[in-house]
Amino acid sequence: MKFLQVADKQDMARKAAGIIAAQVLLKNDSVLGLATGATPVGAYGQLAKWCREGEISFRDVITVNLDEYCGLPETSPQSYRYYMNENFFNQIDIDPANTHLPDGMAADMDAECSRYSALIRSLGGIDLQLLGIGMNGHIGFNEPKAHFVMDTHTVALSENTREVNGVYFENPADMPTHAVTMGMREILQAKRIVLMAGKEKEAILHRALEGEVTPEVPASLLQLHPRLTVVFEGGK
Ligand code: PGA
Repeated sequence: MKFLQVADKQDMARKAAGIIAAQVLLKNDSVLGLATGATPVGAYGQLAKWCREGEISFRDVITVNLDEYCGLPETSPQSYRYYMNENFFNQIDIDPANTHLPDGMAADMDAECSRYSALIRSLGGIDLQLLGIGMNGHIGFNEPKAHFVMDTHTVALSENTREVNGVYFENPADMPTHAVTMGMREILQAKRIVLMAGKEKEAILHRALEGEVTPEVPASLLQLHPRLTVVFEGGK
């Protein structure tokens, strides 16, 4: 594991963006696994800026996102498709057809999960997966539970996640109860993982990286990954 402790959120964004940019420069048709949430917004902004300035191109990049809410159309500003379009895809030169998220509106969610797992396999897996970490140690929407779930699946969101993410909904009761997420194997099979964590995540990050490997802290499985880079806003 490589641990980069950075001074502030701007530095965190720049460092993570730098790693992603290097990945794309080294392999222009990289498969990038992407994350949503507050943490990576700055990194997407930095990458978009470099793209506008002609430093980097996403023309041949393929993206697969970690997760999506169930029951929110992509026109909903709280959907992760909307977030990705706004914060990243609409600002770069990527082919929209190469941007993938699970479809949280699918009529048959089991079929949708199988489709998404098959898609990831057909792309040859993920070259670089960007991750955040939940206050409860979730990655994607793999919530703390008694066992790890390997492939893309639907999940009932935990009380903690509904509370934390509920702030993005005008009426927190509108926060979806379920989501669809990549599974732990799909995430852990990424060739490289970059985990971003702000200083508010210090306690759970410590538990995930130093504590017991357990499905009660899904991010603890990252201890097994051979090419993990953690970008942590720890102050200096
Ligand atoms: P955040 O979410 O970046 O909004 O803190 C991270 C996560 O829940 O994985």
